[in-house]
Amino acid sequence: TIPQHLFGKTVVITAGPTVEAIDPVRYLSNHSSGKMGFALAQACVEAGAQVTLIAGGKVALPTPLGVTRIDVLSAAQMLTTAQQCVAGTHPALLSLTENEQIDDHKHHHVHNHHEHERAECDCHEPDDQIEQQSVASGDITSNGNLDTLPLDNLRHADIFIATAAVADYRTQEAAPQKIKKTQDAMTLNLVKNPDILATISHAYPDMFVVGFAAETQDVEHYARGKLAAKDLDLIACNDVSRSDIGFASDDNAMQVFFSERYAHDTVTLEKASKDKIAEQLATIIGKTLTQ
Ligand code: C5P
Repeated sequence: TIPQHLFGKTVVITAGPTVEAIDPVRYLSNHSSGKMGFALAQACVEAGAQVTLIAGGKVALPTPLGVTRIDVLSAAQMLTTAQQCVAGTHPALLSLTENEQIDDHKHHHVHNHHEHERAECDCHEPDDQIEQQSVASGDITSNGNLDTLPLDNLRHADIFIATAAVADYRTQEAAPQKIKKTQDAMTLNLVKNPDILATISHAYPDMFVVGFAAETQDVEHYARGKLAAKDLDLIACNDVSRSDIGFASDDNAMQVFFSERYAHDTVTLEKASKDKIAEQLATIIGKTLTQ
């Protein structure tokens, strides 16, 4: 078995791209597959953590066993959902807590995608509707063994990990109707998205916060800049100038830089499967957190 470096820790992870609506049928997004974040979610569960995975865009990956998954689309939704998950107030976590207290309904913990959306989750709904619950921020999927849940809702998460490829810009306003091709040229007004990682990191100075970065040059310089600007504990960097790793690839290679508050040398993780890299990162996070 894997060393339990994250035993009893609660972890919130963002993964995948965000999707920014242009009109009801079109959107802006990117090629992030979500693989690294999903692999990390699985590795954290295996290392003993309770994991909430916020998947942006339309990530087409199975939910790792034991992970509570919440699907969102846009950066704005991802930020709201991440804030609620870190605070432990997201309806998905509250209702899982409630379910946990109903012993003979433990089998209800295996959810699948729900079709309907509701304005808010009524956590006092009758038992037979537990499998139907869904919330406005997105679909909730809990997969498999949830005996290690629930979270202690009075306490914020121990670790926040941002692997999501958040769109830098969104449309100022999504058109309510499909835009017709009547003009020869058209302009989209874009506005900057919030920085989810920086917002959460600054709101919870004592939480362990992990960022990712993809750089093509001056990797260390940019990594250290982001460590400081976003007040991170550590940052894992891909070298995206390499064509054999990253994005949709199953492999990755990373350099890990630590905040100056840890006297840690930079760690290089050699090219390996994303699962293997994720395991190593989970171990590094656990050891740094508890040192
Ligand atoms: O600034 P840059 O996009 O390179 O930062 C990368 C890190 O910040 C990643 O961990 C990414 O998930 C996070 N991020 C975020 N929200 C944004 C932009 C980046 O959480 N709007």
